[in-house]
Parts: sequence; C-alpha cells; structure tokens
Amino acid sequence: MKDRVNAALLLEKKRTGKKISVLTAYDFPTAKLVDEAGVDIALVGDSLGMVVLGYKDTLPVTMEDMLRHTGAVVRGVKRAMVVADMPFMSYQVSGDSALINAGRLLQESGADAVKLEGGVVVAETIRRMVVAGIPVMGHLGMTPQSVRKFGGWRLQGRTEADAHRILQDAKALESAGVFAMVLELMPQDLAKRVTESVSIPTIGIGAGPFCDGQVQVVNDILGLYSEFHPKHAKVYVDLSETIRQAFEAYVKDVEDGSFPGPEQSF
Ligand code: KIV
Repeated sequence: MKDRVNAALLLEKKRTGKKISVLTAYDFPTAKLVDEAGVDIALVGDSLGMVVLGYKDTLPVTMEDMLRHTGAVVRGVKRAMVVADMPFMSYQVSGDSALINAGRLLQESGADAVKLEGGVVVAETIRRMVVAGIPVMGHLGMTPQSVRKFGGWRLQGRTEADAHRILQDAKALESAGVFAMVLELMPQDLAKRVTESVSIPTIGIGAGPFCDGQVQVVNDILGLYSEFHPKHAKVYVDLSETIRQAFEAYVKDVEDGSFPGPEQSF
C-alpha cells in the first residue's frame, strides 16, 4: 500500500514540480472512490452546505455537520489526506474557541488537518493551532464564507491594490505555518505570483494552471449539481442524467410489475 499523504509529501511534490490533486468528498462511498483513484487530498469542504444540504451558500453549515461528514470520509480513505473545513463562526469568534473546534475535527472525526478562510486576520489563530500540533490549510481569494460581504461569487485580486493584499495574506499564512493554501477565483497571473512567492503548495480553483495543485467540488465534475455551473469546473460525466434515467426505469418497473422479478424474490 502507498504511504499516507502528509504535509511533507505535498511539499516534496511542489519542490519536484509534481502537481497535487484535491477533490471534495462528503460521504463514505465517494471518499472511497476518491482515494482509490489516487487523489492526494479528500477535502470535506463546507461546500457540502450547498451541494449536499441544499443551502444557497456555505454559511448555515455547523460544526456538527462537519464532524459527521468528516468522520464518514475518514472511514472511506486509506491513502488520501483528509482536510476538514472549519465552518462559518467556528474560528472567527475567539482564538480559544477556534482552537477547541479545530481540535474536535481531529479528535472526534479523525481529520488529518483543518482548512479555514482568510489571511492576516486569522494568522494568529492559525499560529496557535499549528503550535498545538494541528496541520492547517489556508484559503484566499474568493472565500465563500464572505460571499455576502463580496455581494456574490466574484473574481478577487483584479486591481493591483487587491492583488497586493492577497500577496500579503499569503505571506502571513506562510509565516503562521500553514502547510498549503487554496487560491480561489483569481486571475491566473496573480495565482502564479502567489505560488512563486511562497515555499508551500498552492491549490487552485478557478485560479489557472500555475498553482501547485488543483481542487474541484466533486459534484461539479460529476454533473451532480444543477443549481449552478462554475466556469472553472470541467464536467467529466453527466451523472444527473444517468441517475435520472435509472430512477425512471425503476418507477416504470415498479408500476408495470416487472420488479421484483424471480431473481429478487424469496
Ligand atoms: O468548501 C469547499 O469545497 C472548498 C473548496 C471550494 C476549496 O473550500
């Protein structure tokens, strides 16, 4: 069996120019498939609020949601590193409650690491987690928990002032001790500048090809989220259509009495 993915292996990938693959997973069967496919990191994103629980954004997601789904993903993987998102308001209120909540994701769900959004403003909180032995992934650019402040899902870092702020945030995250950071929805040139200015891996989503790795929401690449199609997502298979056809065939079989047949009966 291949070694379990850890921060050192990800750093080595950056150093040797090998790309890092990350997919979200929210349940046991998906986590198993993600792991078997060789994905490096299974991210239990709070995007589950939208693609699994049907909310319009990630803000309603709770610690209990994250603990339950992270546990299911942990049970599904052997090699992939499991990173759990810290939900909205689980790390913004105080450094103490942030540390307790990050610890719960490792202790109660078995996550390998946590991810939280923001730069300079969360750097001290992250430093405390890292000192306590909790691996932390950062997240900059279009940070979904601030979607109501941004007024929608908008490309970040378009002006030089904004780009400068993101670069400073990246440096603050690096000094706080994150092992990697997500760069979401920003011009590819800015993602390239960030990637070249930090020693740790950057993982892009809608941030172009120059990041050290890529992350996608699993439901987007499987054609399983019909509410919204992000431009950055490549749809590899239209599972919604396949599943709809299977359900319709089942309804037909039940209604015309062809299911259950002799093979399914006792
Ligand atoms: O919640 C999530 O799925 C994420 C990714 C979009 C990076 O944070």
